[in-house]
Amino acid sequence: MEHLLLCTSSSLLLLFLFSSVPITSQFPFGSSKQAYHHSNVTCIESERYALLLFKHELKDESNRLSSWIGEACCSWEGVGCHKITGSILKLDLRNTVPLYSDEDYHCTNCLGGQLTPSLVNLTNLRYLDLSSNSFSGIQVPAFLGLLKNLRYLNLSSAGFDGEIPHHLGNLSHLRYLDLGDSGFSLSTKDLGWVVGLSSLEGLVLSMVNLTTAQDGLRSINMLPSLTTLELDSCDLFIHPHLSQVNFTSLAFLDLGENNFNNYTVPPWLRNLTGLHDLRLGQNNLSDPIHALFDQKTSLVHLDLSSNRFDASTLKSLCKARDLTYLDLSDNNVQGSIPSEIGQLVNLTYLDLSSNDLQGSIPSEIGQLPKLTNLVLAFNKLNGTIPTNLWQLTKLQALDVGYNSLTGVLSEDHFAKLRELKSLRLTGNSLALNVSSSWVPPFQLHEIRMGFIIVGPRFPAWLRTQKEVEELDMRNASISDAIPSWFRVLCRNITSVDLSSNSLTGNPLEFKQHRPSRYRSRRIFLSSNKFDGSLKSLPLDISDLDLSHNFLTGHIPQLEVGQTVVPGMRSLLLNDNRFTGTIPKNLCKWEYLYILDLSNNLLSGRVPLCLGNLRDLRILNLANNSLSSQIPSSLGNLRRLSKLHLNGNKLVGKLPTSMQHLRYLQALDLGDNGLKDIIPAWIGERLSNLRFLRFQSNNFHGPISHTLCQLSFLRVLNLAHNNLSGFIPHCFNNITAMVSGLDGDYGIDPQESLQDIKGGREVEYYALNLLLVNSVSLSANNLVGEIPDEIMELVQLQVLNLSQNHLTGRIPKKIGNLKQIETLDLSMNELFGAIPESLSDLYSLNSLNLSYNKLSGPIPSGNQLQTLTDPSIYEGNSGLCGKPLPNNCSEHKLPTKNGPTDEDEGHSESDWSWFYAGIGPGFAAGLLGVLGILLFKKSWRYAYFKFIESACDKIWVKTTRLRRNFR
Ligand SMILES: *[C@@H]1O[C@H](CO)[C@@H](O)[C@H](O)[C@H]1NC(C)=O
Ligand SMILES: *[C@@H]1O[C@H](CO)[C@@H](O)[C@H](O)[C@H]1NC(C)=O
Ligand SMILES: *[C@@H]1O[C@H](CO)[C@@H](O)[C@H](O)[C@H]1NC(C)=O
Ligand SMILES: *[C@@H]1O[C@H](CO)[C@@H](O)[C@H](O)[C@H]1NC(C)=O
Repeated sequence: MEHLLLCTSSSLLLLFLFSSVPITSQFPFGSSKQAYHHSNVTCIESERYALLLFKHELKDESNRLSSWIGEACCSWEGVGCHKITGSILKLDLRNTVPLYSDEDYHCTNCLGGQLTPSLVNLTNLRYLDLSSNSFSGIQVPAFLGLLKNLRYLNLSSAGFDGEIPHHLGNLSHLRYLDLGDSGFSLSTKDLGWVVGLSSLEGLVLSMVNLTTAQDGLRSINMLPSLTTLELDSCDLFIHPHLSQVNFTSLAFLDLGENNFNNYTVPPWLRNLTGLHDLRLGQNNLSDPIHALFDQKTSLVHLDLSSNRFDASTLKSLCKARDLTYLDLSDNNVQGSIPSEIGQLVNLTYLDLSSNDLQGSIPSEIGQLPKLTNLVLAFNKLNGTIPTNLWQLTKLQALDVGYNSLTGVLSEDHFAKLRELKSLRLTGNSLALNVSSSWVPPFQLHEIRMGFIIVGPRFPAWLRTQKEVEELDMRNASISDAIPSWFRVLCRNITSVDLSSNSLTGNPLEFKQHRPSRYRSRRIFLSSNKFDGSLKSLPLDISDLDLSHNFLTGHIPQLEVGQTVVPGMRSLLLNDNRFTGTIPKNLCKWEYLYILDLSNNLLSGRVPLCLGNLRDLRILNLANNSLSSQIPSSLGNLRRLSKLHLNGNKLVGKLPTSMQHLRYLQALDLGDNGLKDIIPAWIGERLSNLRFLRFQSNNFHGPISHTLCQLSFLRVLNLAHNNLSGFIPHCFNNITAMVSGLDGDYGIDPQESLQDIKGGREVEYYALNLLLVNSVSLSANNLVGEIPDEIMELVQLQVLNLSQNHLTGRIPKKIGNLKQIETLDLSMNELFGAIPESLSDLYSLNSLNLSYNKLSGPIPSGNQLQTLTDPSIYEGNSGLCGKPLPNNCSEHKLPTKNGPTDEDEGHSESDWSWFYAGIGPGFAAGLLGVLGILLFKKSWRYAYFKFIESACDKIWVKTTRLRRNFR
């Protein structure tokens, strides 16, 4: 699903960013047994000179090489010499400060610039490490192939780009070569050159593009001394057939993230009898791995995550007794966790999350005494957590979130978990029952207890937890005032989510942090009972959600002289009782991405300065009392994808500058007093629109034919205006309604769109919008016939053309609209027989044909049989048959294809009952629409907490929605 892709791809990006952070190599070269000596031996003059030339071409912002002066080059930073000859043996210029520690993703400690060939004069160089620097897209220099004595060469995470020079193949003494994670697109067309590296023990080509070197493994197979091989994320979609395996001493093999197009585990893995560490994550693998483990295996670390392995794989893995690390997350493991898991007594890390596991957690897991990480999230496990699991005293991370576990957890359960740092219980039927004086034995960094029962009192034990960075107690049944000590604690937490409780009192007092460095902090307190007014807005926060509370007063102004840390990304104050005008100082958060002030009591104009928020993607000011015209400065918001100004008192015309909002996907201007024609530029320029709603304004004139150019459009609502003329015949050009196909869909899944007020307001959650197709043109002055072309919109679920002056017959092809759930053609001047094909509409659950001039027998059969409310057909005196009381046999049959004369049945003024009837009918129809929209929770368990939290939020919203409509 779309949201899933969104979440995983961004976590991959982050994974990538963070994996560039230097980690001490597992490879043993770092510890130098060599005669490297940082001392006062005199260095060789020509080598010193070569180093100076080398330095000269480097960019060294942080002056790391400030010690590179004077004669004693052997004591220079990163230089190591032979202790007798003084010849330079080692050059270690690895950057050990995290790459991107500042907000601009600029590495200040990195070396950059050019690499001069003067290095070649260091003829005895054995060790060269330039990793984790930022050479920003230069090529790996071919002259490195002249450093014949090199034993160790590390160019990883250093920003090298382009083709790897085959000259590196001349380094016949090289024992370790790392070209991984360049951050650019390092590639090699042919791995033939590696054959020259006959002494190689370790080879890392992670993220090197090997698309055109698919059989590269054959060359690597010529390296008999290889013990470490990392080929993850190399686009190696083919795993080659190796008839005889040479690299049998391989101990560490990483082939992860290659998306092999062959579902089998490479059979030659079986010959690698010394393998300790095998990583095959994200590869589409499904076929049996059994053979690999039937025999005695030496494996200690096994990553099979994100493949399609099933329960039999888990079962056979239970024989691999030496395993300490097992990741089988995000596979197809069904059924219950086998009790044989208890045989893996050496396990420290077990991840079975995001599978299809059922039944209870076997108590055998509690018999794995070394376990430090246990991750069982996103399965269907039920029952209580086995008691002996709480005896796992080494446990540091316990994640059983998003299952169906039950039970009450008390202080006793946690008594032995002294080492616990991360506790994730979110999304189970669990309750936490501890006394208010409980002092837990642990200091947690991460607490996730959303959707379990923590309340009703605010958990006092939180006060003892001084190291919390992430706190999630969404919807945890807490009905209490927020204690003042929590406000203090809260200042150190990176992410707090206490939304959907019944917390009362003043909202948090947001004390000004020293805005020295921008930190990403997130506070979610929506859907509580906070009241009173806000004194100030926090200035050092990236996301603030106070929506759905009872906050009153004005939205705070900045105090004079207050500086804003411009890092705020989302500000949600919607669904409160804020009054007054929208303060202009909000415009100082120039990087705002989402601004939602909808459903308040705000008045005055829409501030012109909002047009300065160039990053804004979502602007929602709906349902306030904003007046005057739409400022034309909004046309500057070039990245805007959602604009909601509906439900205000806006008047005048649409500013023509709005035609620049090319990325707009949703535009809701409904329920205002706008008076304009439908401008042609909407169809011509806003070509990304999915959702267009102008309902209940004073739009007049004809429906612009250019709207047919909106090929992604899914919801078109122009109801309750003064539109006149014909319905365009070109609606069949709106391909989204015809084929349902959609390209890239960038709507923020958290966002909701309102549409159709018929007795009940409906919110389409943006995810669901993918599946909704609706055309509503009711209550205008449209004339002419219903165009046949509308019958090509086979994706339509809602079609409402009621209350116009449409004439002619109901098109025979109405039966094409197979998806239709709500069809309202009432109060027009349609005549003739109801087409038989209407009974082909199997999804139809709300129909209204009343007050037309229809005649003849009402078709029956199929779904129509269930629509028995006679008011559906009311006011068509020529109709007969069920569910109307009059029998067709006693009724005068209509003349073939002609209108009957008996259509004088209703008085135009008496419509009150009609509205009463249509409301519930409509709601029922939408129930159907929403019914199919529930989506499966199946996404990958996210590595990165805040990504998870974003995804969780989607889940929450959908669950909420699901509940509302049950
Ligand atoms: C290096 O310096 C130390 C004192 O700092 C001295 O004892 C030693 O003799 C010197 N070695 C050489 C080779 O000059
Ligand atoms: C490096 O060696 C080359 C030839 O081997 C020589 O011409 C050059 O002067 C040397 N450079 C330095 C800095 O000694
Ligand atoms: C890898 O290289 C191939 C061929 O040069 C290219 O088509 C492909 O886009 C590259 N893949 C990536 C991820 O850059
Ligand atoms: C194994 O390596 C040797 C060289 O060390 C090579 O001659 C031979 O072809 C290799 N075998 C395979 C199957 O690649």
